[in-house]
Amino acid sequence: MDDESISKNTPPLRIAARVLREALPLRWKTYVLSIVFMIGAAGFTGALAYSTKLIVNDVFVAADASAAYRVAGIVVFVSLMKSVFQYGNSVIQTMFNRSVANDYQRLVFRNLLAKDIWHFDKKHSAAQMAQVRVLGSAAGKTVVNFSNKLPTDILTLIALFTVMLFQDPLMTLVSCVLLPVIFLLVSNLSNRIRAIANAETELTGAFFAIGSEAFSGIKTVKSYKLEKKSIRKFDEALKVLEKRLLSIAKVTSATVPRMEFLGGLVIGLFVVYASWQTITHGKTPGEFTAFITAFLMAYQPAERVSHTWVELQRALIQCGSMYSLIDKPPRRPAGGDRSLADVLPSIRFDHVSFRYSAKAPALRNVDFEIQPGERVAVVGKSGAGKSTLVDLVLRFYDPTSGTASIGGIPLTEVAEDSLRDSIALISQDVFLFDGTILENILDGNPNATEAEAFEAARLAALDDLLAEDPKLEKVVGPNGGALSGGQRQRIGIARAMVKRAKIYVFDEATSALDVENERRIMINLEKMKDVTVLFITHRISTISFVDRVIMLQDGSLVAIDTATAIETSSEEFRRLFDLGA
Ligand SMILES: Nc1ncnc2c1ncn2[C@@H]1O[C@H](COP(=O)(O)OP(=O)(O)O)[C@@H](O)[C@H]1O
Ligand SMILES: [Mg+2]
Repeated sequence: MDDESISKNTPPLRIAARVLREALPLRWKTYVLSIVFMIGAAGFTGALAYSTKLIVNDVFVAADASAAYRVAGIVVFVSLMKSVFQYGNSVIQTMFNRSVANDYQRLVFRNLLAKDIWHFDKKHSAAQMAQVRVLGSAAGKTVVNFSNKLPTDILTLIALFTVMLFQDPLMTLVSCVLLPVIFLLVSNLSNRIRAIANAETELTGAFFAIGSEAFSGIKTVKSYKLEKKSIRKFDEALKVLEKRLLSIAKVTSATVPRMEFLGGLVIGLFVVYASWQTITHGKTPGEFTAFITAFLMAYQPAERVSHTWVELQRALIQCGSMYSLIDKPPRRPAGGDRSLADVLPSIRFDHVSFRYSAKAPALRNVDFEIQPGERVAVVGKSGAGKSTLVDLVLRFYDPTSGTASIGGIPLTEVAEDSLRDSIALISQDVFLFDGTILENILDGNPNATEAEAFEAARLAALDDLLAEDPKLEKVVGPNGGALSGGQRQRIGIARAMVKRAKIYVFDEATSALDVENERRIMINLEKMKDVTVLFITHRISTISFVDRVIMLQDGSLVAIDTATAIETSSEEFRRLFDLGA
C-alpha cells in the first residue's frame, strides 16, 4: 500500500479518505442505520419549519378554530419524530466515535510496542501513552465528523433551504450568496488551525511525561526537596499547553460572531423586502413566517458545519501524525527466517563496531568467540560498552559494521521469535508486572507448568519468599514495589530460569543479592547443561564462577582470557576489582 503512505505534505483529504476507507466498511450496518437517522433528522427539521406556515395561514389568518387541532397534531408529530431521529443519530455518533477511537488507540499501541528499541531512546513512556490517546481519539473524531456530523448538518441545511426556496426563491438566492462568504471565512480559519494543531500531541505528551516523572521518582523528589522543580517544570508545560489550546479556541470561536452578524444582515434585508412584497404582490404572512423560521433554524446547523470543519482540520493533522508514526519504517530491519532451535549456543562477534549516533562509537571493532556452554563475565568501567554488547547479542540493535552471530548464524538472518525464545535477559532493574509472584515467574514461559515455576523459584534461591508464601500468591505491586531489590532480582532470575533458554544474559542482575544467594544461583546455573551465560558484573564474587572474562575499555575489547590470567596481566583489571597492584 505504498500509494497510501502518509507524509507531512499529504493533503488532509487524502488522510481523511484513508481513515474512512479503513473504518467505515467494518461498521457498514451501523452506518446504513445512521444514514436513515440523518435523513430522518434533516427531513423532519425541514418539516417543522414548514409547519409554521400552516399555523399562521390555516389557523390565524383563516381564523379557523377547527384547523387548530389538525395543525397542532401535525406539529407535535413532526417535532416528536425530529427528536427521535436526532436522538438516535447522536447515540450512533457517540458509538462511532468511541469504537473508532478504541480501534485506533489499540492500533497505535500495538504499533508502538512493535517499534525497535531506537524508538524508545528519546521519548518518555508517558509521552508515548499520550500519543496513543490523542492520536486514536483524532481518528474517532475524523470518522464521526466526516461520515455523520457534517452530512447530518448539510442534509438539514438542504431541507431548510428547500423550504425557503418554496416560500420565496428570490430571497433564498440572496441568502445563498452568504454561502461562499461563510466558506471563505472558514477556510481562512482552518489554515490557521492547522498551523497550531501540529504541536498539540507533543505538548500533551510533555504534560504527562513531566507529571509521571515526578511520581515515579517520588522518593528522590522528596528526599532532595525537588517538589519545587517538578512543580515549576509542570507549570511551564501547562502554560505552553494552555496557550496553544487558547489560540485554537480563539480561532474556533471566531466563526460564531462572524456568522451571527451575517445572519442579522440577511434578516434585516428580508424584513424590508417582505413588507414591500406583501404590499405590492400579495404574499401570505404564513409564507414569510416559514421562510424566516427556516432561515433561523438554518443558523445552528450552518454554525456547526463551520465548527466541525475547523475541528476536523485539527483531527486530520493528528491523524496524519498517526499514520506517519505507523508507516514509519523501522530503523532496524526485520529478521530473517532461520531458527536457532537446532544450533549450539556459541556467540561470535566478527569485527563488530556500533555507534548510537554520529558521536563516539560505543563498540570498536570487537572480535571474540564464546563456546557453547561457556560462562563468560563481561567487565569494564561504566560506559565501557558492556550493556551495548549484550544489547547487540539480543539484537535490540544491529552492528554499525561487522557481524554478530549465534551458532554460526548471523543475527540479522534469525527469525525474531526464535531469537527471543533462545535468549533470557535478566537486567539490573528487574521489571515486574503488577500481579502475583507466580504470574510473574510464568511470564518467562507461557508453556511452563506451575510445578516448573516452583522449581525455577528454588533454582533462583527464592526460599525466603517460598517460606512465608508457599503458593507464591503475593501481589508484587506496581513494578514490584512491594518487594526488596534482591527479591525482585531473584524473581527476575526465576522468570528467566523457567524459560529454559540457550543463552542467559545477566546485566548486573545479581548486584542486589548477598553473596550466599548469588553463590547458590551460580551453582544451580552450572548444573544447567549446554547453556551459555554472559554476566555483566562489577563483583569479584561473580568472577570466580566463570570460565573466561571479556574486558572492555572505551568500547574496545582489551582482553579475553581466564580470570587468573587477566588478573596477572592487567593492571586495569586489578584496579577495577580493587585487587591491589
Ligand atoms: N541509548 C543510548 N543512546 C546514546 N548513547 C548511549 C545509549 N546507551 C548508551 N550510550 C553510550 O554508549 C556508551 C556505552 O554505554 P553502555 O553500553 O551502557 O556502558 P556500560 O553498560 O558498560 O556502562 C556510553 O558512552 C553511553 O553513554
Ligand atoms: Mg550497563
